[in-house]
Amino acid sequence: MNLTKASKLTGEITVPGDKSISHRTIMLGALAKGTTQVKGFLQGADCLSTIDCFGKMGIDIENKKDTVIIKGKGLHGLTKPNGILDVGNSGTTARIMSGILAAQPFKTELTGDASIQKRPMGRIMEPLSQMGASITSIHNNNCAPLHINGSPLSAIHYHSKVASAQVKSAILLAGLFAEGKTSVTEPYVSRNHTEIMLKYFGGDVITVGTTATVSPNPVLTGQQVTVPGDISSAAYFIVAGLIVPNSEILIKNVGINPTRDGILRVCQEMGGNITLLNKNDANGEQTADILVKSSELTGIEIGGSIIPTLIDEIPAISVLACFAKGKTVIKDAAELKVKESNRLDVCVNHLSAMNADITATDDGMIINGGRPLHGAVLDSKLDHRIAMSFAIAGLMADGTTTIQNSDCVTISYPSFYADLASLKK
Ligand code: S3P
Repeated sequence: MNLTKASKLTGEITVPGDKSISHRTIMLGALAKGTTQVKGFLQGADCLSTIDCFGKMGIDIENKKDTVIIKGKGLHGLTKPNGILDVGNSGTTARIMSGILAAQPFKTELTGDASIQKRPMGRIMEPLSQMGASITSIHNNNCAPLHINGSPLSAIHYHSKVASAQVKSAILLAGLFAEGKTSVTEPYVSRNHTEIMLKYFGGDVITVGTTATVSPNPVLTGQQVTVPGDISSAAYFIVAGLIVPNSEILIKNVGINPTRDGILRVCQEMGGNITLLNKNDANGEQTADILVKSSELTGIEIGGSIIPTLIDEIPAISVLACFAKGKTVIKDAAELKVKESNRLDVCVNHLSAMNADITATDDGMIINGGRPLHGAVLDSKLDHRIAMSFAIAGLMADGTTTIQNSDCVTISYPSFYADLASLKK
């Protein structure tokens, strides 16, 4: 994909449904009794992997594109899959589904693509083993492929070293099947979509500070769910609208859950002109239309408890920081090294190749804004968020920016390039 400088971006877009929420509709829909009807489901490759896995475990899922219908069979309704569960590129499917598999009365094998086979799974293997499941990494490297031998589980109170919603959700979903109440405490609060949706389906979850506690054996009932637009997908247009001169973009119906809205808080602190309109609620998830106008930005320091609320937006924020006056410091973000690619390394290398003043640190990066960016040939490393972040950088660079392996945007945002083109004037 080739990108050139944009003189302005104007118009209105609706980004696809939230990836995290879409995954959870399939998982909870499968464990609920009765029919769940999902509107706005993300038709990205990751969420289709989740549909595929639960289909293999006997759940009837009809994907009519604008609506997905899941015929749930209740907490104990999954059946042994005929073959390996393949999560593709989806870490969320791999980790959260493992929590459910840990409690099943059958053995499963779970695998994924080359990226998934390098991502750490020890973080869910440890707590699920403590609960009583037997999980082994087939190549003995704490990565997929995994053998999961489900067992009757006992409740635990787990103190997670990382603020990870995937880890928290795996344990909470395993806790639905455990004897006693299961709790997870994390260093900072991570996204809470599992907790919100579990309650919406009839489960009992209580959150106090950074601890979430689930009661076992709920009667979950199928629901109507409307998935809001994904703020992680909106982030590319928020950044683009702020940095491309003379721009004004309205992004309709985006999820602004406070555990996901760090990008908005950071942009506003940097001086970004962002207004939230039509605030609303979709099955317990807050939503709004986001109006973005080009702005003069100033660098800031980003670290601590805000990091989990913008973890997937850091590549886009690194591009934004190149156009802010002064220094932006991103710290406490070592988790980026174990995402779909090593996003710290890739952002630093790619932005350096474009002429930015950027330095890697152990857990983040330091960017001195203001240097003009030049076009470059950049590989996405098959990481959707890298492809989209650098497509935005290309709108502000001299010459042509070429994104190699740019098709990986199908993971979370199949119509990304078309939506971007529709705003370019
Ligand atoms: C997700 C949680 C985050 C995020 C990922 C989706 C989820 O990962 O990066 O894209 O849906 O729970 P971690 O939980 O590993 O931080």
